[in-house]
Amino acid sequence: MASKHFTKKSLAVLFAEADETGEHTLKRTLGPTQLVMLGIGAIIGAGLFSITGGAAAHNAGPAVTISFVIAAVACAFAGLCYAEFASMIPVAGSAYTYSYATMGRFIAWIIGWDLVLEYAVGAATVSISWSRYLVKFLEHYNIQLAPQMTMSPWDSVTMADGSIVTGIMNLPAVFIVVLMSLILVRGTQESSRINGVIVGLKVAVVLVFIGLGWNYIDTANYTPYIPANTGNFGEFGWSGIVRAAGIIFFAYIGFDAVSTAAQEAKNPKKDMPIGILVSLAICTVLYILFAHVMTGLANYKEFQGQDGIAPVAVAIEHTPYEWLKQAIILAILAGYSSVILVMLLGQSRVFFSMSKDGLLPPVFSRIHPKFKTPHKSNLLFAVFVSLFAAFIPARVVGEMTSIGTLFAFVLVCIGVLVLRKTQPDAPRVFRTPMVPLVPILGVLFCVFMMASLPFDTWLRLMAWMAVGIGIYFWYGAKNAKF
Ligand code: ALA
Repeated sequence: MASKHFTKKSLAVLFAEADETGEHTLKRTLGPTQLVMLGIGAIIGAGLFSITGGAAAHNAGPAVTISFVIAAVACAFAGLCYAEFASMIPVAGSAYTYSYATMGRFIAWIIGWDLVLEYAVGAATVSISWSRYLVKFLEHYNIQLAPQMTMSPWDSVTMADGSIVTGIMNLPAVFIVVLMSLILVRGTQESSRINGVIVGLKVAVVLVFIGLGWNYIDTANYTPYIPANTGNFGEFGWSGIVRAAGIIFFAYIGFDAVSTAAQEAKNPKKDMPIGILVSLAICTVLYILFAHVMTGLANYKEFQGQDGIAPVAVAIEHTPYEWLKQAIILAILAGYSSVILVMLLGQSRVFFSMSKDGLLPPVFSRIHPKFKTPHKSNLLFAVFVSLFAAFIPARVVGEMTSIGTLFAFVLVCIGVLVLRKTQPDAPRVFRTPMVPLVPILGVLFCVFMMASLPFDTWLRLMAWMAVGIGIYFWYGAKNAKF
């Protein structure tokens, strides 16, 4: 009896699904460039523009660049494993589907459920940062949004007159989530076009910041490059660099979202690895340069107390280009919207696959007759993500996103090892190099970073999984098609 929970979906079935056409399928519109853009669209966001400053200020100092290298190495291991799977099994479910093929239905459910943390909760996290930058942007024009309506009930702010205001709900965050969901309903090609424009803008901002800022670096800010540890683990020194790597890992999340668009790619077997690995490589280089310039312009201590809002603005104050500040904040606002867009896209595609397998109700795989998108799923997630965005503080959702993503990466790395043993001869357009070393290192790096997250985040992960397991036995196990 128990074994049916571990039924695996055969590669033959998956290959047939990947090639499916007809009115209940997604439309294939994306080429390699769009896939790379999709990756960058999901990757560059709050991690870089909000979180880096805090990680430099509290954990690593200028050596946050080394943290970026460490996190990039971990992501590269996972990215290489994703690339093998995505070229082999190019269907929308990503890690969920890979697990179904390698470890069976129950583990697949676990990972599909876990991906909600990465994509839906991740989108909520970025929408909260979006809201903060919006407040900052409007302040410049003396437009004050009521602070109660821009924070969760767990957040508070001290006003100029000394009074303390507690949040009710974060309305701007809800606004951006709903807007992006509506764009997604309209069509993947439209979404990809909008994403392309935003990515261009976002990368331009990063390049302008690096290019203009480079000349104003004060090398004194790099001494000491690795500030001495304060005596507490994670506060500067090497332990601080490692802790910062766990924190800024968030900045890399998103390259795997490319794999959820596999059924909308024109030539997925060839283009999926390109989308995943090229977007990751481009962002790694940009991140290291960006962090180098940011901590060279301003002393890392200046980023303290910024509450992750606008470290970039602090850095720009050290150049003669202060007028750029508003333009950059505007571009950052646009940039965050593309992260939310691609995360929401990924989320609906994972549930699309789970629903097609019977593990979730059919509503998640209904395709709009005209737009060819899973519109109902998009709208349901608009509501779900809005609740998180409105009522939960940024740290909580941010860390849940990181732990959920790392967990998915671990299972994907293990999956590559399993499939190499069970299906050694199945065609692989892209092969992860140095197996088993790369997947094993992927697992170790990700577990290590998971371990650096606080205990309450682990508890939340377990609670989320417990709910998921309940739903699996209540619905999924009874309705599964395989
Ligand atoms: N990597 C994405 C960001 O930093 C999630 O916003």
